[in-house]
Amino acid sequence: MKKFIGIFLLLGSCCGVAWAGVELDSVEIDLDDKASLKRGGQLFASYCQSCHSAKHMRYSRIAADLGLNEDEVSRDLMIGPKTINDSMTTAMDVIEASEWFLGIGPPDLSLVARSRGSEWLYTYLRGFYLDEARPFGVNNLVYKDVAMPNVFWEIQGLQKAVFKNVDGKPVFDTFESVQNGRMSKEQFDRAVTDLVNFLVYVGEPAKPERVRFGKYVILFLLIFLVLAYRLKKEYWKDVH
Ligand code: HEC
Repeated sequence: MKKFIGIFLLLGSCCGVAWAGVELDSVEIDLDDKASLKRGGQLFASYCQSCHSAKHMRYSRIAADLGLNEDEVSRDLMIGPKTINDSMTTAMDVIEASEWFLGIGPPDLSLVARSRGSEWLYTYLRGFYLDEARPFGVNNLVYKDVAMPNVFWEIQGLQKAVFKNVDGKPVFDTFESVQNGRMSKEQFDRAVTDLVNFLVYVGEPAKPERVRFGKYVILFLLIFLVLAYRLKKEYWKDVH
């Protein structure tokens, strides 16, 4: 037991460093919004998949879940030569990639929404700011000294982070825009919401089905409760 508590504390302290003191922004996840999931999938294919895979996700599954046909999937969601039965791999060689990115290869993102949480992802993807000291010229608010460039700079624009001094320590205050992107802030937030929605879906594609099924199970249990109670009364009637 002590071992477990130790591991737990260790994990907490190592992961906590990245978001110490920063409040995560809330994001509305709606796995029934298929249009949003599709837009998120398109963003993943065009902005992320050159480096990251989501190898536990198959195109055929996306087609079935989002009600898309094979042509739509191959036109909107596939990069490179792939078939509907392939999974969302990346063309990038992992070893080569880790050499490019300061020794850290881009991780597979199939389960990232479950390990990091949707709010962390939403804050992370909007949280890149200019920092000349970093090799890619950017740092990240919730993932200090991250080895990923800001892939959204063209649509988001460039921003710098303003820190205020609290008890001698720099504490994040706000972002200030340095250069506008192609999207307005609202449009960009919407786009990142779609992408996070997609990553949450990829983390557990069966969730909407499970929730729907769960309602029937609860209904069954309630009906069964009434029946069991009446049966119990019937049996005990003769005993009393
Ligand atoms: C040019 C390559 C590249 C692209 C494109 C890219 N990333 Fe990354 N990403 C990386 C690298 C490298 C890391 C590892 C950073 C580290 O651990 O310091 C990373 C890390 C991450 C992490 C943190 C994973 C974790 O839990 O530690 C997330 C989340 C992520 N990327 C999401 C995305 C999303 C979403 C996109 C598309 C919008 C994207 N990335 C596009 C290279 C890339």
